[in-house]
Amino acid sequence: MFSMNLLQKKFSEIFGGKEEWIVRAPGRVNLIGEHTDYNGGFVLPMAIDRAVWIALRSRKDKQVFVYSMEYKENRSFSLDILEKQNQEEKKKSEWIDYIQGTAWALQKEGYNLSGWEGAVCSDVPIGAGLSSSAALELATARAFATIGNIPWNPSQMAYICQKAENLWVHVSCGIMDQMISACGEKDHALLIDCRSLETKLCPTPKGTSIIIMDTATRRGLVESAYNLRREQCETASRLLGIQQLRDISWEDFPKKSTVLSDILQRRSRHVVSENFRTLQAQLAMEKQDTISLGKYMNESHESLKNDFEVSNDALNAMVECARNHPACFGARMTGAGFGGCAVALVRQEMAQDFSTFVSEQYKARTTLNPTLYISQATKGAEIWNVE
Ligand code: GLA
Repeated sequence: MFSMNLLQKKFSEIFGGKEEWIVRAPGRVNLIGEHTDYNGGFVLPMAIDRAVWIALRSRKDKQVFVYSMEYKENRSFSLDILEKQNQEEKKKSEWIDYIQGTAWALQKEGYNLSGWEGAVCSDVPIGAGLSSSAALELATARAFATIGNIPWNPSQMAYICQKAENLWVHVSCGIMDQMISACGEKDHALLIDCRSLETKLCPTPKGTSIIIMDTATRRGLVESAYNLRREQCETASRLLGIQQLRDISWEDFPKKSTVLSDILQRRSRHVVSENFRTLQAQLAMEKQDTISLGKYMNESHESLKNDFEVSNDALNAMVECARNHPACFGARMTGAGFGGCAVALVRQEMAQDFSTFVSEQYKARTTLNPTLYISQATKGAEIWNVE
């Protein structure tokens, strides 16, 4: 669990004196709209109460000194030579790459950055599908913006951080994680049109809890499977004569998709139906229709499991355990898939009972040790006022 006290103590232990600023950027859970962002479609995530925090102080030079509390490691780099470093051959990425990459992407966008020193701390679990990388990128962007008096435009910053991840860290993610870590609001999920980057705030349904269920499974090959899915979606779009799968409606899909092979039909059926479900889910949220919202979440999981084939046994087991509890409106895997977390929408007064029940059932079924969090929607990347 995050402790402000420990972060501040660590800062003064490593750098001496006191920090000038504390910035924070959250991880996320996606309620619905999976594998739609890179197809120009719709997503409905919320920023969660787990975040990356940086305590920092400005420097007069162009150096950045960072201490990571997770890795217990000091690293530094100069803002003057980032362009050159990006041309060098890349090894496996490390935590500092997300910070350097964000600095590089901000500079590429024309911002003149100043140096700082800071301690970084995070309680977003790494590799669990809760976007610890996007949180680190956005916290870094918030740090540079604060130190350099750069105006804070959340969606523009999300776009820059996505470039950092695509072009510096070399992970070809979509825009969802950075957008929600930048634009999240307390007690709200956010409908994002991943093509126009327009957003709409949706209050989380009254009387419900959103529960994140970590399966305790991680799969190493997520990246190659993710890239393969992206390629399949691009090929399907080409064959359908459209720019992206966003450009075909769910009504038109059956007659138009006959030109596709079986596998491409299934992949694109997931994306096209998921876009439809996500828009319907947002309408259901607006009407406080929790039953329909839960039903769309359930359908999303089936589509990800059968058509897009990105679930795994542990995620399927978790989702089934969740649905076996009477307080559950709906449950599905969340994020890229192949392991990590599922999410459930649950009647609030039974949330604790639900968590105990699901943990026990899941443990008995899989012999794995899950972690369940009852999570709150929080604000996106921000400067934190220390009292
Ligand atoms: C990962 C990516 C996102 C998105 C999801 C799947 O989290 O970073 O851009 O594609 O997978 O919805």
